[in-house]
Amino acid sequence: MQKKINGLYVTAKGKPENQSIVFVHGFPYDHTMWNFQIEELSKKYYCVSYDVRGLGKSYVGDGQYTMEAFVWDLFSVIEGMKLEKPVLCGLSMGGYISLRAVEVDQNRFKALILCDTRSQADDNEGKLKRALAINQINTEGLAAFAEPFVTNCFWNQTVKKKAGLFNEVLRNSLKHNPVGVKGGLIAMLSRTDTTKALKKFKLPTLVLVGKHDALTPPEVMQKMAKKIKKSDFFVVPKAGHMAPLENPDFVNTKIIKFLEKLEG
Ligand code: MLT
Repeated sequence: MQKKINGLYVTAKGKPENQSIVFVHGFPYDHTMWNFQIEELSKKYYCVSYDVRGLGKSYVGDGQYTMEAFVWDLFSVIEGMKLEKPVLCGLSMGGYISLRAVEVDQNRFKALILCDTRSQADDNEGKLKRALAINQINTEGLAAFAEPFVTNCFWNQTVKKKAGLFNEVLRNSLKHNPVGVKGGLIAMLSRTDTTKALKKFKLPTLVLVGKHDALTPPEVMQKMAKKIKKSDFFVVPKAGHMAPLENPDFVNTKIIKFLEKLEG
């Protein structure tokens, strides 16, 4: 099932009466990055995913986005799909959205899954890199920015051994409207830091990170996991920053075990 909610392209698979899971993708990707998880999990769960505004088939508008607006969008998807206490699952930028959403109102959710993300806001170096990226898109075009960025998101062995998968993701990332991609960069560089909120999180939380994640490395995510009371932490072998795509079998097994534990 596909529909538009608040200008956002939303898809769902599975039975609506089952426990729902909302998947929030990373940057500069779209909802299809969760296909391997949704294929498997939709047998038992109602899997909802959507394109974050500015990316994929969602509304682009003027590109003036904030992380807060991304959170309101997430809430509008949950309300529009009439989901009751979904499990929230976000990767990287999707994790920033999820962390802030839980900080705003954790009562809306049953549990949290964080993949390859961090609670810290961008530091000065990070902000300057985003500024250069926006400039590069303006002066050289989207591909000049996206090709090296997307390549760095994957473990180098995935790029070599799963070239078909990598090329497909790269091709997809070049299809976005550059205005939307720049809007995402601005939203990320101006996001707040959610680290202090972690100790208030009461949700059962699964934290997963690719062993070779160069953007949000295992040490960073382990520290974050330790600050969340009810967290389980796992390093995903044979994966970089795109762990759910690079090693879906391992990630799916961990998610299924986590979800089964929730059912008690
Ligand atoms: C992502 O995968 O969402 C991005 O790498 C996040 C970021 O650039 O901070």
